[in-house]
Parts: sequence; structure tokens; C-alpha cells
Amino acid sequence: MFIIAYLLGSIPSGSLISKYFYHQDLHKEGSGNTGTTNTFRVLGTKAGIVVLILDLLKGTLATLQPLIFHVTTINPLLIGLGAIIGHTFSIFDRFRGGKAVATSAGLLLAYNPSFFTVACIIFITLMFLSSMVSVASMGAAILLVIISFFYHDILLTIVAVGLTLFIIYRHRTNISRILHGDENLIPFGLIYWR
Ligand code: G3P
Repeated sequence: MFIIAYLLGSIPSGSLISKYFYHQDLHKEGSGNTGTTNTFRVLGTKAGIVVLILDLLKGTLATLQPLIFHVTTINPLLIGLGAIIGHTFSIFDRFRGGKAVATSAGLLLAYNPSFFTVACIIFITLMFLSSMVSVASMGAAILLVIISFFYHDILLTIVAVGLTLFIIYRHRTNISRILHGDENLIPFGLIYWR
């Protein structure tokens, strides 16, 4: 199931859609990331929504496998991690990929819809406040570690800590841009009111 999750996560939705429908290479446009944010930025809303749904679904389907195959001896969270590794280091895209955010959200959706809902609310709020998707991604990940304590699920907290560290690591170029004041901004959000 972990291998299936990895292969599922490896499907390079952003790269495929940009290459075959828009004849562009996401690796060379915008932030160079092949995830949802750069798809929205480079290819527009329609492609962005499709990639968001596909990247979410990869995490959700991978995490649902133990349920689908009636396996109760393994925690679905551990299987879902395979999809996140595949999404970020895709075997079909020269071990390149996204920054683990949408696929992690898909994992949460399958594992704990209430936690997923909290995650979405925090992410959207931070995105509007900062106008930076990277700040929303990292900020939500950090806050979710704290919120996970209220769920009394030690594995959820451990996975949340691991994913947060990994998401921050994947955003190291964004962190550098934020520190230099030249991170990409979304065309709405409070930062434009200053
Ligand atoms: O989910 C990725 C997002 O947080 C940042 O994407 O393209 O701005 O580096 P990008």
C-alpha cells in the first residue's frame, strides 16, 4: 500500500497539465514549483483548480487504502505519507515535485475531516492576511501541530511535526524570498491595504 501511495503521489499533475494542455514547462515558469500555487500563477484559475483537486485526491486516495482493502493493522496516516513523498520526489518527473501542501491536505481529509476543515480555515485566513501562499502553508502547518494536541492522537501529532518540518524545508527558497521582501504575492489580501 505504501508503494501504491508513492506511485499515486508521483503522478505529476501540474507538470502533465502544463505540458500537454498548455505547452508550457512549470519547472521554468513562476516559482518553478509544479504544485497548485504555481499552476494558478502561471496557467490560471481553471488549471489551478484541476491541479489542486488532483493533488488533494492523491493524498486522500492513498490514505484511504487501508479502509478500501479492509486492513486494520496499519494506521492510514503512515500509508498516506507515501503519497507525499511521491508528490515531492516524483519517480515520473525526475524526482522533482511540489512542496507537499495540497497532498498533505488530502491526507488530512481522508484521516480526519474535522482536522482538515480547521487546516483549511487557518490556511485561507493566513493567505488573506499575508497575501503569500508560502506564509499560509508554513503558518498553517506550524499552528496545526499545536492544534493536533487537542485531538489526543499521538500519531497525528508526530506526523504533523514531521510534515511541518518537511514543508518548511521544501519552502526554503520561499523563506529566502520572504526575508528579501520579494516573495510572490497573490493579487488579493490585506497586505495590499498597507
Ligand atoms: O504550496 C506551495 C506554496 O506554499 C508556495 O508555492 O509556487 O509560491 O513557491 P510557490
